[in-house]
Amino acid sequence: MVLFLSRSDLESVLTMSDAINVVEHAFAEFSRRTAKAPLRVPIEVEKEEGIVLFMPAYLEQMEAMSCKVVSVFKNNPQLYNLPTIHAAVLLIDPKTGQILSIMDGGYLTAMRTGGVSGVATKYLAREKAKKVGLIGTGVQAEKQLWAVCEVRPIEKAKIYSIDPIERQEAFAKQMSEKLNIPVNVATSNKETVEDADIILTATWSKTPTFSGDWIKPGTHINGIGSYTPQMQEVDVATVKKAKVVVDSFEASFSEAGDLIIPLENGAITKEHIYAELGDLVIGKKPGRTSEDEITFFKSVGMAIQDASAAKHAYLAAKKKNIGTEISF
Ligand SMILES: NC(=O)c1ccc[n+]([C@@H]2O[C@H](COP(=O)([O-])OP(=O)(O)OC[C@H]3O[C@@H](n4cnc5c(N)ncnc54)[C@H](O)[C@@H]3O)[C@@H](O)[C@H]2O)c1
Repeated sequence: MVLFLSRSDLESVLTMSDAINVVEHAFAEFSRRTAKAPLRVPIEVEKEEGIVLFMPAYLEQMEAMSCKVVSVFKNNPQLYNLPTIHAAVLLIDPKTGQILSIMDGGYLTAMRTGGVSGVATKYLAREKAKKVGLIGTGVQAEKQLWAVCEVRPIEKAKIYSIDPIERQEAFAKQMSEKLNIPVNVATSNKETVEDADIILTATWSKTPTFSGDWIKPGTHINGIGSYTPQMQEVDVATVKKAKVVVDSFEASFSEAGDLIIPLENGAITKEHIYAELGDLVIGKKPGRTSEDEITFFKSVGMAIQDASAAKHAYLAAKKKNIGTEISF
């Protein structure tokens, strides 16, 4: 039998603190070379400005194997009132190859992407970081803000996006109620970031969403939105002055416009990229080493995050008797 897990099933079994915890283990495996994580295979649908990604992974120690199919069609909210991202995950038993579960990948993606930012924030943000500036008020943005509140004593957040003001205000109200902190809509991107201890970018922007000249010493940035060489959320000035950590060197050098653009125009060399996140997790390299340094974590998203979160959700659902058993 195959366990089918819907979005609402996953909402009742996967918490953000669990997502951060299992994603941290996945990155430790990645750095210890017990993970198999081939680069994802993208298929572009140019006429719709969409892309479909096929993402397999195997984590030996966690005994987690999965393949996610995820589509990113950025015009969906405006044209069809649909989310940008749709996804499904197949969880596979690495002992027998059997399919264990099919689950909604949209919620899982947002949670595991929150998860990786939670891990990065834990190793890179100042211990007493209190103020967040969030750029983007979509699906990922919600989980990004939730994740940093799990690992730092966040007292307030400012948000900014190019969504209609009513949508930004609704987002602020919803997040304020969920996280029990004041969340306010800023009047500009500058106002959002200039006083922030932690900046989060979760957009599909092709041009920088703020200027490196506006940020203060000691700021930590998580950038999760740019995932093609042409996309850029974080400007060259910020990248140049930051200690830069990536999820994967290989993936970010082929996909992350935030880094590929300054590499191609000679503003930085590959040596400027300090570490992979897993190296911080296993203690191979220290994370933040001073109060003043600016740190930047760039995520393009890895299938190991899906495999670890999917395995955890599957076990938790089995334990709580949640989900629907189906037969092929
Ligand atoms: N790194 C990862 O693992 C990962 C995982 C999932 C999604 N993503 C990426 O994250 C991005 C956001 O995804 P989503 O599902 O939240 O999309 P979404 O459409 O729900 O939200 C996008 C948000 O970005 C805002 N935005 C776009 N351009 C902006 C700009 N220049 N300035 C300010 N705000 C701007 C929009 O107003 C909107 O609020 C996408 O690019 C997606 O591919 C990355």
